[in-house]
Formats: sequence, structure tokens, C-alpha cells
Amino acid sequence: MTTSLDRPRRITRLLVTGGAGFIGSNFVHRTLAMRPDVHITVLDAMTYAANPANLSGTGVELVVGSVADAALVDRLVVSLGEGTGDAGGAAVVHFAAESHNDNALRDPLRFVRTNTEGTAVLAEACVRHGVHLHHISTDEVFGDLPLRGSGEPGSEDRFTVDTPYAPSSVYSASKASADHLVRAFVRSHGLSATISNCSNNYGPRQHPEKFLPRQITGLLDGETPRLYGTGENVRDWIHVDDHNDAVWAILDRGVAGETYLIGADGERSNLECVRALNGIFGRDGDDFVHVTDRPGHDLRYAIDPSSMHALGWTPRFTDFAAGLADTVAWYRDHRDWWETSRKDAELVYRATEDILDP
Ligand code: NAD
Ligand code: DAU
Repeated sequence: MTTSLDRPRRITRLLVTGGAGFIGSNFVHRTLAMRPDVHITVLDAMTYAANPANLSGTGVELVVGSVADAALVDRLVVSLGEGTGDAGGAAVVHFAAESHNDNALRDPLRFVRTNTEGTAVLAEACVRHGVHLHHISTDEVFGDLPLRGSGEPGSEDRFTVDTPYAPSSVYSASKASADHLVRAFVRSHGLSATISNCSNNYGPRQHPEKFLPRQITGLLDGETPRLYGTGENVRDWIHVDDHNDAVWAILDRGVAGETYLIGADGERSNLECVRALNGIFGRDGDDFVHVTDRPGHDLRYAIDPSSMHALGWTPRFTDFAAGLADTVAWYRDHRDWWETSRKDAELVYRATEDILDP
């Protein structure tokens, strides 16, 4: 079991990788609102998953480049430490990744380069310049669990910090490798680092390739929701602001070398989610289409968040129905933000379907 620091860290300068994507940009907005004294630089490759509008009006410096570019990362980590007078006041929060499982089916090596190699590049620079690294990882590194109540061994389990790694996809394997590399840099190179593995996030600014925004933006365009397979797969939903508050609890009070599991007791089947969305749109709950399942599709994820409770963090968004309704309202009000990326994402889906089901 982890314990918190006797004296909280005082972080004043951050390098946020992937800060123009979904969770990273919400982290930037939340930090500016809650901690106006923190100076933020964002490093983002501005891939298809980034939206320049995510950072507009924030005033943070955006450096466009890759986490796998060792020379650029070194320069940014050096300048992060400068001027603080205390290397302990600077940290890298590492969100940047190729994050979508379906894309890993088409182009797996891109995931290894960004997620695995990019994390090693950052870890090495942080060792060299004595800067703390917080690595954002995923519950998918643990593989999946049987459905609750199925009577299968493990069906009442949740992932804990002691669950062995068993990733199913190249995405989750690339994140698992990154976690192992961070731990190796801690043990053998003296890196100061923390890791968090979080469950499925929802909220504003999530790319329309992902499950909930794909269905929400589709419904706003008058289309019918699309469920992979039977829809019985379970995800453990958490609001993105709760995830980011948990990251701040770890930055403030987490113990270097430790791993924290972030979750909000939000298990829902995909079918339940689609029915809830249909309800918000005043439609028949069962008006959806079953489409070809994802190969290797993980059945159930569930997080035991006690390592975060020990740090004094608990989620604020405990009403999933209300959080989902707010998220729908955000997409309704921000058509300009998602219209082009939805079209692009649907083209990629069509191309993937042709590969998987020629
Ligand atoms: P996202 O795809 O919305 O954003 C990823 C960002 O990283 C984008 O802005 C993209 O341009 C940037 N990026 C990609 N390759 C890069 C590179 N080589 N160098 C620099 N920047 C690069 O992803 P997200 O959903 O916000 O996820 C952020 C992190 O959180 C990822 O590490 C992901 O594994 C992890 N995570 C996500 C979830 C979830 O539900 N979305 C849950 C748990 C953990
Ligand atoms: O658990 C954390 C992970 O959650 C993160 O590490 C990933 O970055 C993030 O993308 C997410 O992975 P999932 O694969 O769980 O998310 P996705 O939104 O792709 O799919 C959620 C569930 O919905 C999954 O069971 C597949 C299903 N699905 C997805 C789409 C796009 C559908 O049924 N229909 C769809 O159209």
C-alpha cells in the first residue's frame, strides 16, 4: 500500500506532453483554473488527434514536435528546470500517445514509436536533468476481466496495483512496455517518477473516433448508434476532470517510484451507454445497430481505486447520467470543433472495415 509524502511537492513549472489532445488539454484548462501560478509548456506533435482549438485562448506555449525527438525533448526538459531555483519544482506530465485501439489494428508500429520509444526518450531526459516524470498510463495494460456475475474465475475482481500485466492489443502492449521502461529507469538510473493507470475517460474535447463521442456526434447528425459485437463489453467510466484532479493529487503527494490506479466505480456495459444516450436524445433505447466486433476486443475493465483514496482523492462526478448529459450538451454546442474530425474518423473506420471484413 502506498503512503503520501510528509511534505507535499510544490510544482511551479510543467511540461505537458500531448496537451492538445483530449485528456491533456482538459488538464491544461483545469490547471490554469485551479493553479494559476503554474507555468505550462505543451509539447504536442499535432497529429490528427490534436485540435488546435483545444488550447486557443489559454496563452500556454505550444511546441510542435514529437516526444520521440531526443534533441528537442532534451532542450525542453533542460529549460523546464531553469529559473525554478529548485529542480523539485518542475515536472513532466506525459499524456502524449497514439491512443486509439482501432487505429493500432491498421498501423501498429506508429504506436510502438510514440508510446514506447517516446516514453523512454522522455525518461532518459528526465534522469539527465533531475526532473520528475509523471507517466499517464491505462488500465488496458492488465488485459481484461470476465463479466461480473458470469461465474468465471476473476468475475468479481477489479484491477489492483498488484495485477500482472497481460495486454491484448498493440496499443495496450505499447503502453505496458512504456510502464516497464519507466520502472526500469527508476530502479537502474535513479529516475524520479510516478505512474497512473486510469480507466475510460469521458467529457468535452474527446475525439469523435472514440465510442461515446462517435455515438453522440452521430446522433446529432441523425445517425443510429453502432455497437461492436453484442454490446456486453464493460468499461469503467470516469469524468476527465476527476482523472486530472487525481493526477494533481499524485503530483502533490504521490510517492516517487509508486503506481496509482485511477477509477471512479463507473462500470457500464456499452449497451447501457447506448441506451442512456438514446434516452438523452428522446429515442427508443434499443434503436442501434450491431456492427462487426473489434478483433481481440477486451471484455471488461474495472479499477480498484484504493491507492488513490489513500492519497485523499475521491471522484466528484459520481452521477454518470448527469455527466453524460453535460457531455452531450458540450458536443451540441461545439459542432465547429468536431464536424471535420468526425468526417475524417468515419473515413478511417470505413477503410478499417474494408481491411477487417473485405
Ligand atoms: P488523444 O489521442 O486525445 O491525445 C493524444 C495527444 O498526443 C494528441 O494531442 C496527439 O497530437 C499527441 N501526440 C501523439 N503522438 C505524439 C508524439 N509522437 N509526440 C507528441 N505528441 C503526440 O489521447 P487521450 O485520450 O487524451 O489520452 C491521453 C493519454 O491518456 C494517453 O497516454 C492514453 O494512453 C492515456 N489514457 C487515456 C484514456 C482514455 O479513456 N482516453 C484512459 C486512460 C489512459
Ligand atoms: O481503458 C482505458 C482506455 O480507454 C484508454 O487507454 C484508450 O486510450 C481509450 O481509447 C479507451 O479504450 P477503449 O478501446 O475502451 O475505448 P473506445 O472508445 O475505442 O471503445 C470503448 C468501447 O466501445 C469498447 O468496448 C469498444 C466499443 N465501441 C467503440 C466504438 C468506436 C463500440 O461498441 N462502437 C464503436 O463505434
